[in-house]
Amino acid sequence: MTLGAYPLSDVERIPTPAVVVFRHYLEANLHQTIELAGGPERLRPHCKTHKTREIVGRWIELGVTAHKCATLREAAMCLEAGARDVLVAYQLTGPLVDQFAQLAQTHQEVRLASLVDTPAIVQALDQAAAKRGVTLGAMVDLDVGLHRTGVPPEEALSLCKQVQRAPHLRFAGLHNYDANNRSPDVGERARAVTVTVERIDTLRKRLEEAGISVTEVVSGGSATAHLYARLGAPYRGSPGTTVFWDHGYAVRIPDLDPLFVPAALLLSRVISRPGVDYVTLDAGNKAIAADPPVGQRGLILGLEDATTSVHNEEHWSLRSAWASRFTVGDTVLIVPEHVCPCSNLHPVLYVIGPDGALQERWEVAARQRALVL
Ligand SMILES: Cc1ncc(COP(=O)(O)O)c(C=O)c1O
Repeated sequence: MTLGAYPLSDVERIPTPAVVVFRHYLEANLHQTIELAGGPERLRPHCKTHKTREIVGRWIELGVTAHKCATLREAAMCLEAGARDVLVAYQLTGPLVDQFAQLAQTHQEVRLASLVDTPAIVQALDQAAAKRGVTLGAMVDLDVGLHRTGVPPEEALSLCKQVQRAPHLRFAGLHNYDANNRSPDVGERARAVTVTVERIDTLRKRLEEAGISVTEVVSGGSATAHLYARLGAPYRGSPGTTVFWDHGYAVRIPDLDPLFVPAALLLSRVISRPGVDYVTLDAGNKAIAADPPVGQRGLILGLEDATTSVHNEEHWSLRSAWASRFTVGDTVLIVPEHVCPCSNLHPVLYVIGPDGALQERWEVAARQRALVL
């Protein structure tokens, strides 16, 4: 993994556990994401990795006009940050349908869309839009192999036609998220993207024959987004993790690892030394993403040899031959295995300058999923 230098001169001002963001690496990752995609107009980055207005604001300053999120709280946060074109990449159900229409009613000047893969939801969105006197964007979600959501491209024509016919909806295009395509071999990933694109382009052709033009196809995550983005319009890549990068991607996608640097690390303190070769950190599973298996939740700098003995809510106890180097109160930095859920666990991100000084605190403004209207 390509690690940066991570100087910290203000640790006394940072209560732990805390996410620290090294601004110069974040900045480099944003530029690299744009370069890989072939330009800011080829991107619709996903904000779920950071959930902060400040990073959406930086994307906008760098020329990115299209934004993607998963929750209505994230959508509202994007709007607060100045975004004017936001896709909620999630099929909305229950009261969320009307909340979405209400958000559109409050922000008539912006383009809002959500994903659909179910005729009843298309109908519900259309009715909610009618009730609120707005037009809502609906983007058809395609299942290209992950089998999480979406309709196979070969079966999506009638849903697209339904959206097009709905009087209060705007057909916003097509979407695919192919997290099933994560081969460490970039050639293999590119070949799988080619197959997916052929399937989507066949659907596009059928849609055009039906008089429906596809102005956007939002595709991929960090491993493949650039492969779609490089095809040019209407394809746009939608990476999330590249802004922060993490140990999971660094190890699994080796061709991209040299291009990105982990920019958001967990700062933790040693809170106990319960034995000669034991160190216990305050990085419990309420502070670091717990979706990777126990023992694989992060690379602990200076304790790379450690094995996990216990990982509880507030404690991470480790056994290490290097334990004696640590004293209670010492700080350590951890590169999360999966960075995206980490920001969700913390109310603020501590922003660190290249000299190690604490520059700012950014509120994780979209941390709460619910939008209270
Ligand atoms: C629908 C969707 N799009 C884009 C992304 C971003 O993917 P990545 O984290 O690989 O950058 C995700 C991640 O979960 C996602 O669910």
